[in-house]
Parts: sequence; structure tokens; C-alpha cells
Amino acid sequence: MAEIIVITNRKGGTGKTTTSVNLAAEFASQSLRVLLIDMDTQGHCAVGLNIAPPKDAPTVHSLFQSGNSRLTEAVYHTAWPNLDLIPANTLFEHGSCDGNPTRLTRALHDEGVTEQYDLIIIDSPPSLDDLLMNALCAARKVLVPFMPHHLSGEGIRNLARVLFRVASDLNPELKLLAFLPIMLDRRIGQHKSVTEGVARQFGQGRLLSGIRTDIKLAEAFAHRQPVRAYMPGCRGAEDYALTAREISARLEPRMN
Ligand SMILES: Nc1ncnc2c1ncn2[C@@H]1O[C@H](COP(=O)(O)OP(=O)(O)OP(=O)(O)O)[C@@H](O)[C@H]1O
Ligand SMILES: [Mg+2]
Repeated sequence: MAEIIVITNRKGGTGKTTTSVNLAAEFASQSLRVLLIDMDTQGHCAVGLNIAPPKDAPTVHSLFQSGNSRLTEAVYHTAWPNLDLIPANTLFEHGSCDGNPTRLTRALHDEGVTEQYDLIIIDSPPSLDDLLMNALCAARKVLVPFMPHHLSGEGIRNLARVLFRVASDLNPELKLLAFLPIMLDRRIGQHKSVTEGVARQFGQGRLLSGIRTDIKLAEAFAHRQPVRAYMPGCRGAEDYALTAREISARLEPRMN
């Protein structure tokens, strides 16, 4: 059965999508069968993996619309072996869900999707709404990319409260996997103090080494490729490879 990781931070622009696309590609390169699900109606995962879903084709958001389309009808094979995508509907209106937080969970299990993959990564929107709740209910692990700035601390603590509530009320399987500093420069005092604060609060084992600033990550995205394909060996590619190793070491044996 697939391990399911949601990548989340309610703050916008913290590297959620960059991390989702590049980690998915990294794990797929290790011959794991990987499915990336884009819950964010910005639809950027499809851009990053060079998928252009036809208008009106099923997406993950079809689960929240009338009609009987199945989640498996929304799966696209990407150009990279073992890497599939379920894209977002960029026209879906966030407010139009029905308050049921388990639609995604049910579809993944009822349609046997969890049996077809080793790893499912869910990219989530930067809003606290039904789409995020569906992602949190479907996942077993939470990965939080964050910018190591002073203002991030409060956002992370708020997020931790949401995760705790979801874990106690809705999804007892949900566990905080790790925090991933994005655009990290350890020579900057503020970056060092913020990451050390996260380690103190949540445990050193929950703090990953982090991703340095690398314009190649943005360029790879613009070229619609994971960075490991666009510029192998660049800082961003190295850092996401290390992050994948650090995550594997923290997951249960089925992923190792
Ligand atoms: N390590 C990095 N170095 C340089 N640029 C980066 C890095 N990580 C992300 N970026 C850039 O920062 C911007 C925001 O990243 P991204 O879209 O992944 O964030 P996000 O959390 O998914 O945003 P949103 O909340 O809007 O969904 C993008 O332009 C991306 O290319
Ligand atoms: Mg995003």
C-alpha cells in the first residue's frame, strides 16, 4: 500500500509545489511508483511536469463536482518513468465543496489507487479549506516546507495546531514527518536561529537539511521539467536528492 505524504504550509510561496514536483521526480527515479496529486487550483504541478489536461477532462477536483467521474480517469503518465500526475482544475471554485473532508480518502481507497503506487504525494493549496482538509484526511505523513524567516514561526505553530486537530478528530493516522527549510543559507543569522527554533520546538529529527536558493529550480519549472532532468548536479537537484534520502530514512520499511 502506498505511503501518502501531504506537502503543506498555509503561507503562500513557501516552496510547496517546487518540493512536490521535485521530490516526486526524485522518488520516481529510484523506481518507486509515484503519483502526484495537485489539490491546488493554481494547477502548477501540471506545468512543472509538462502536462496540459484538455478542457473539461477529469481532475482531482471532479471529486467535488456533480457527475460520476472516477479519480483513476484523471491520471496522466508523465514523460518520466514511474511518475504519474492527477492534475488540478484551474477553474474550480474553492468555496464550492460540500464540507465532506473524506472524498479524496474514499476515492483513493475505493478505486484501489493506494494499491497501484508506492508513494502518493499531495500538493496542497495555501488556504485552510475543504480541499486542504481532504488532503490532510487522505495523508499519513505531513511535510512542511517553510522559509526560514522570523514570521514563519507563528505560521508553523498555527499549522501544527490544525494538524493536531485533524489527527485527533478526523485522521488518527496523520503524523508530522518533517520540516524542510526552503532557500536556506546557514550563513544568515536569521535563517540559523529560525531553523534552530523549529528543531527545539518539534525535535531535531524533524528538521531536514534544507534546500538552498537555486535559480535553476525556477528555470526548471519554466522549462516544465523536474530539476534533476533539467540540470542534473545543480544545487537544487543535489538538495532534493538529499531530502529524498532523509525522508526515506524517516519512513517505514515499505519505502526503504
Ligand atoms: N530553493 C529555491 N530557490 C529559488 N527559487 C525557489 C526555490 N524554491 C522555490 N522557488 C521559487 O519560489 C516561488 C514559489 O515557490 P512554489 O510555487 O513552489 O511555492 P508554493 O508554496 O507552492 O506557492 P503557493 O502557496 O502559491 O502554492 C516559485 O517561483 C519557485 O520557482
Ligand atoms: Mg503551490
